[in-house]
Amino acid sequence: MTRKVRKRRQSLEQCIARFNMKIVNDANELHAMAKAWKAQGKTIGFTPTMGALHKGHISLVAPSLKENDISIVSIFVNPTQFNESSDLEKYPRTLDEDAALCEAAGVDIIFAPGVNDVYPEGADYSVDLPLGNMATVLEGEHRPGHFEGVIQVVKRLLEICIPDHLYMGQKDFQQFSIIQRMIDYFEMPVTLRVCPIKRAYNGLALSSRNQRLSKEGKLLGSIIYSTLCYVKENFEEKSIAEWREWAMLELTNDWSTPEYFEFSDGQTLETVHDTSKHDYIVASTAVWIDEVRLIDNMTIKQEFSN
Ligand code: PAF
Repeated sequence: MTRKVRKRRQSLEQCIARFNMKIVNDANELHAMAKAWKAQGKTIGFTPTMGALHKGHISLVAPSLKENDISIVSIFVNPTQFNESSDLEKYPRTLDEDAALCEAAGVDIIFAPGVNDVYPEGADYSVDLPLGNMATVLEGEHRPGHFEGVIQVVKRLLEICIPDHLYMGQKDFQQFSIIQRMIDYFEMPVTLRVCPIKRAYNGLALSSRNQRLSKEGKLLGSIIYSTLCYVKENFEEKSIAEWREWAMLELTNDWSTPEYFEFSDGQTLETVHDTSKHDYIVASTAVWIDEVRLIDNMTIKQEFSN
């Protein structure tokens, strides 16, 4: 065991001792517990996270508590979904604060595994899922390999926790669309519940990354939401190409740089060119502010109930 792993293990043990809520790090132990609950006819709700929890995460936990007998939150910074090792190292690890938030919310179990618990040495957890271009557009275009890592970890976590319901946020629109595709493809016995985006008072979407924004950045970040709202309210007035250009300009300032602003089919993630051919259209964007990459999205058109 390396010094770093030993230190993490020690702080995890200290954290476990401080809380009444159960914190489990062993995948086999949690799987055995989940099987026992299932045998007793109990339902399980599962919210996967990478920690650094905020109100947005807790808004995913709330419906889980309502709809299930047992609610599990996982806290695992998944190395396979980071394309830059510096990003992985910089990712905030705040297990104590996270556990306090979960305990206050009423979570039953935190699953805080180490890398070896999720990916035991020698086992192959790669997932063969045909996604077409679902994983290469939008975020996938700018973060190659990211969604392969997300699919791998979410599939593994679902196999460990065997939940009835999985809770994910609308903020990660592409992520939940791909996870729904995975559930359908492998006919996994779990229902995905997508929860609305939680926003600050000025519309900035809550994200663990907001911690890295300056006070000004947090204020100015409201431009992402106001741009999305403006597009939605006035959608009929311009073509898709015109809106894309307008939004990219609107989001380009001394203090903000957009990476993309795109309109996609809400189900297939196909890029929209002709709005009349799609019943469900989502506008998504990634914008850099204070050297922090922020993503957001808004459903622009939805002519059926999902
Ligand atoms: O959205 C996230 O925080 C992560 O991508 C997830 C779903 C927990 C997988 O690591």
